[in-house]
Amino acid sequence: MDVHVADHPLIAHKLTYLRDKRTDSPTFRRLAEELVTLLAYEATREVRVEPIEIETPVAATTGIKLANPKPIIVPILRAGLGMLDGMVKLLPSAEVGFLGMVRDEDTLEVTTYANRLPDDLTGRQVFIVDPMLATGNTLVMAVDYLAGKGARDITVVCLLAAPEGIAHLESELASTDIPVKVVVGTVDERLDEKGYIVPGLGDAGDRLYGVV
Ligand code: URA
Repeated sequence: MDVHVADHPLIAHKLTYLRDKRTDSPTFRRLAEELVTLLAYEATREVRVEPIEIETPVAATTGIKLANPKPIIVPILRAGLGMLDGMVKLLPSAEVGFLGMVRDEDTLEVTTYANRLPDDLTGRQVFIVDPMLATGNTLVMAVDYLAGKGARDITVVCLLAAPEGIAHLESELASTDIPVKVVVGTVDERLDEKGYIVPGLGDAGDRLYGVV
């Protein structure tokens, strides 16, 4: 598994305000969107392209365009929705699928409660977006689910990760043939006993959408 930690002062600046408990939901949503656009730039470095012949007002030339089939962005509901607009801004022609997963706050077990995805993801580049890579349980299940539909080119985009979550995802993937790339804003210190990232930013879903 390839992990890329984005190292940019603008990302660090925006993450600091995102973490601050005084940041209200509208500002949190805006910062999350801005951060994702910056991370998406990194995450799409190997997006598939193909040549295209065009004419400028001056001469004919060969350019490049996104290849078909177009990439698919998969936000993990609910918190991943807060990252969707930022991704779509950079990849407007991508398709969007949805995967609803929830973790039990006591056992930290993850269950899938909804999905809207193509049946066949063979040959598709898939970008999973989920703000927090905490225990890694959700992403292990999401990758497994998408790989079950044939996906073999999966990039995970997260705002924050815990070292334990990265290690868990890495060890679960080690025995598979699924190459996964993780692009993350930063890696924090640790997980606490409730599975929260420390220092983290709290519950990303609640901070985006309120406690519902
Ligand atoms: N999910 C969150 O929203 N926050 C955490 O710190 C961990 C998982």
